Amino acid sequence: MANVTVIGAQWGDEGKGKIVDWLASRADAVVRFQGGHNAGHTLVVGENVYKLSLLPSGIVTGTLSLIGNGVVLDPWHFRDEVAKLKGQGVDVNPQNLQVAENAPLILPFHRDLDALREDASGAGKIGTTRRGIGPAYEDKVGRRSIRVCDLAHLDDLGPQLDRICAHHDALRAGFGQPPIDRERLLGDLWDIAAFVLPFARPVWRTLNEARKAGKRILFEGAQGVLLDVDHGTYPFVTSSNTVSGTAASGSGLGPSQAGFVLGIVKAYTTRVGSGPFPTELEDEVGQKLGERGHEFGTVTGRKRRCGWFDAVLTRQSCAISGVTGIALTKLDVLDDFETVKICVGYRLRGTELDYFPAHAADQSAVEPVYEELEGWKGQTTAGARSWADLPAQAIKYIQRVQELIETPVALVSTSPEREDTILVRDPFID
Ligand code: IMP
Repeated sequence: MANVTVIGAQWGDEGKGKIVDWLASRADAVVRFQGGHNAGHTLVVGENVYKLSLLPSGIVTGTLSLIGNGVVLDPWHFRDEVAKLKGQGVDVNPQNLQVAENAPLILPFHRDLDALREDASGAGKIGTTRRGIGPAYEDKVGRRSIRVCDLAHLDDLGPQLDRICAHHDALRAGFGQPPIDRERLLGDLWDIAAFVLPFARPVWRTLNEARKAGKRILFEGAQGVLLDVDHGTYPFVTSSNTVSGTAASGSGLGPSQAGFVLGIVKAYTTRVGSGPFPTELEDEVGQKLGERGHEFGTVTGRKRRCGWFDAVLTRQSCAISGVTGIALTKLDVLDDFETVKICVGYRLRGTELDYFPAHAADQSAVEPVYEELEGWKGQTTAGARSWADLPAQAIKYIQRVQELIETPVALVSTSPEREDTILVRDPFID
């Protein structure tokens, strides 16, 4: 039976929450494999709105939800998010939620460092979510992390704390901060361990058992390919690999299990944080896209930068992530325009380019080459559930998008409601 891997194909915030929620209702297990509580997924189910940053979207429907080893876990945020969902009537317990024992923790000094560095970086500021994501991943590859499984061995933490303090106290001193308070940290870890440990499991094993039993697994990506630490707009990226290939290493199932790779693509483009954005519109059109699309961050509440659809970037993301088909979201935001534009190429210092260059200076210097299409002003795509419900110009727009990105459309999402979806190809069916 097919599995599905969902990833964002732009800079995140493509509307993954709704699609993942819809797929999760038909999956047997949902696993997050990278990122942390920097993600923001909004799920609208009937009257209820759920905002998730860390927990897999399956949790809302009671589907087995797994946090893989590739995720960095802030245990206090974990506790708060579980409590918030329970407050909304969602049943969350160690039977339907598991956390990989080998997932690294985000600790308070990671959050401090994230903010201190951002504040000191002047024009080089990344615009992070300040949630400690980067410093936690740095400690993982630096072999200093305290991991979920360490919470069951806090009496033996001495050598690890020595390694952490040797590294962080020097950095903190540079920022005029006191050294890490080891006693306080240990006390806090003892407190939170009792909450986290009942959820701790060998998630790789749960997944392998699910695979052997022929269960449907949904891999839930966070952020987007353009924020990938290797393939994104480096250095203005997050600190994890957001491409589909990470589903394997970040969960403990081999790459052959990724199944249908569904790229979530917004019908226009948005970005939060700093960094190049070729089709950004700093005029009333950008303003209108932001207002119609309610483009404010779920995590930080920051206003998102907005621009026309960039087919060059999306084609590149789809290629890098081996996207089988896309889910096109928020088409209704384009409902009120006389004409709509698509970026079909770049001009860089007089040369035409059909891909996004690697260097930040070139990425900032490229000028978009647009194709202008007639809009469908006066008609609406909102709530459409079949092609017949769509204006002819909207269908032309979708067809042009899939042609340019060289990837077929599997789904079109036409409102935040789960049912307002046009299904072209069911990702779960071979
Ligand atoms: P970090 O992940 O907090 O280190 O932030 C690095 C960059 O990724 C910043 O530009 C953030 O705005 C961006 N980012 C992180 N998570 C998300 C997300 O879920 N959606 C959109 N952008 C994100």
